[in-house]
Amino acid sequence: MRLLFLGDVVGRSGREAVAERLPGIVEQYGFDFVVINGENASHGRGLTEAHYQNLRDAGADVVTLGDHAFDQRDTLSFIEREPNLLRPINMPPGTPGRGAMFVESRKGHRVLVVNALGRVFMGPVDDPFRAVEAAIAACPLGEQADAIIVDFHTEATSEIQGMGHFLDGRASLVVGTHTHIPTSDHRILRGGTALMADAGMCGDFDSVIGVDTEEPINRFLTGIANGRFSPAEGEATLCGVAVETDTRSGLAIKVLPVRIGGSLSQALPEF
Ligand SMILES: [Fe+2]
Ligand SMILES: [Fe+2]
Repeated sequence: MRLLFLGDVVGRSGREAVAERLPGIVEQYGFDFVVINGENASHGRGLTEAHYQNLRDAGADVVTLGDHAFDQRDTLSFIEREPNLLRPINMPPGTPGRGAMFVESRKGHRVLVVNALGRVFMGPVDDPFRAVEAAIAACPLGEQADAIIVDFHTEATSEIQGMGHFLDGRASLVVGTHTHIPTSDHRILRGGTALMADAGMCGDFDSVIGVDTEEPINRFLTGIANGRFSPAEGEATLCGVAVETDTRSGLAIKVLPVRIGGSLSQALPEF
């Protein structure tokens, strides 16, 4: 199987890049399943139902979230009717929505997607390691699941690498989101799990992690909020990771970084 994961979509430029480029990328490289993190898609804060539909229409099989999951209030209600929208699994019991989804793809592949929040330099949440492990144990890779994708949304690269090794051999891909900065540590671990500490964002890199530079610089200089953060509106780079799996085992046999369009663009190597 060919899996594509795209990191946090930021604002209008991120949404437009996904809408314009994703269908062609899926076609060109023959991706079987696409996951997109949408936690910043609506003006940098959360995800409205309309913008969720935009991502789905562009080709996302599943959309994941993060610490901004409920910044748009209507997400609390529409997430209940959208099984292909995930919020982090280790939020408090009773939080609307779900954190893991076993999906049959349009092509008939059975894919488990899990979204979790980290705890290092993040707000207090339940243990992500045991929560993800329990979700995976319910439909193991190579048995019920043809592929397992874990979006681990956190600040610290150490925590993501820990999760990757913890799940090595039990997931197809463990990928970090949240920092918006793509890392170059993509690789396949000994047990066959592809790991990348951060997918990067789908947003305008002429910015401070997707935000117009003026207000972030002002806050760094003064420590005082003078205005609101606004998403940068220049051309977005689509950032993420592409993985090819062995059909029988579900483990990774190839992993490549994706950086298409905008100021961080680079050619996608032979896939
Ligand atoms: Fe984000
Ligand atoms: Fe985040």
